[in-house]
Amino acid sequence: MHALVVTAHPDAASFTHAVARQVIAGIEAHPGHTTEMADLAAEGFDPRFTVADIALFNRRGAADAGVLAEQRRIDRADLLVLVYPIYWWSMPGLLKGWIDRVFTQGWAYDDQPEGTTVKRLGRLAVQLVGIGGADQGTFARHGYADAMRTQIDHGIFGYCGAPVVGSDVLLHADAPSREKVLHQAFNIGSRLAAAAPHGRTAPTGYGPEERRAPV
Ligand SMILES: Cc1cc2nc3c(=O)[nH]c(=O)nc-3n(C[C@H](O)[C@H](O)[C@H](O)COP(=O)(O)O)c2cc1C
Repeated sequence: MHALVVTAHPDAASFTHAVARQVIAGIEAHPGHTTEMADLAAEGFDPRFTVADIALFNRRGAADAGVLAEQRRIDRADLLVLVYPIYWWSMPGLLKGWIDRVFTQGWAYDDQPEGTTVKRLGRLAVQLVGIGGADQGTFARHGYADAMRTQIDHGIFGYCGAPVVGSDVLLHADAPSREKVLHQAFNIGSRLAAAAPHGRTAPTGYGPEERRAPV
């Protein structure tokens, strides 16, 4: 399995980056599995949706080179892991812009004239790791974790047919120490590698494209 681990935090010394490194360490603890880190902030990814992006969405233009490069990077992976700080009960704007621009019509999904959607990312497993500063009680009381799963897991990846194999919210306020959260992150990576077959194969049980009514 090859995993692309995407982070969206401006500071490489942040807790978010430390969590991402532990997920990678957990995956690479299993021989035969490889990883690649995409640090969107360090790479200077521009999250602003452009006129060209709209033209592509409306099938009146081609994807720009930067967007194509991001899609090729995802195409090389069997597993996409998003590790991000929770900002306003969702992902940071940088990561949202990456999804807006890269998960395009024609590559991630195809809306059909008759109203159905071809889901194109059935081969890509997805693991979400959100890191929050609030405590579990706050998340539970307001249903924030469910809201995030509806929007992100179902709304984005479900729409594209990409199976979400794990969705974790790590809250350092609740943990006895940040080390405990880093340990959880290592275990997430380790679990993903242990569950995946060796080599360049999508996880078992997840087929290629499916054709379903829009969600
Ligand atoms: C703009 C902003 C919005 C935030 N919104 C939330 C939030 O909605 N829920 C939450 O639990 N934490 C929130 N936080 C706290 C971050 O999730 C927390 O600072 C982060 O996980 C700590 O990791 P870091 O050291 O990598 O920044 C927010 C922080 C910032 C800067």
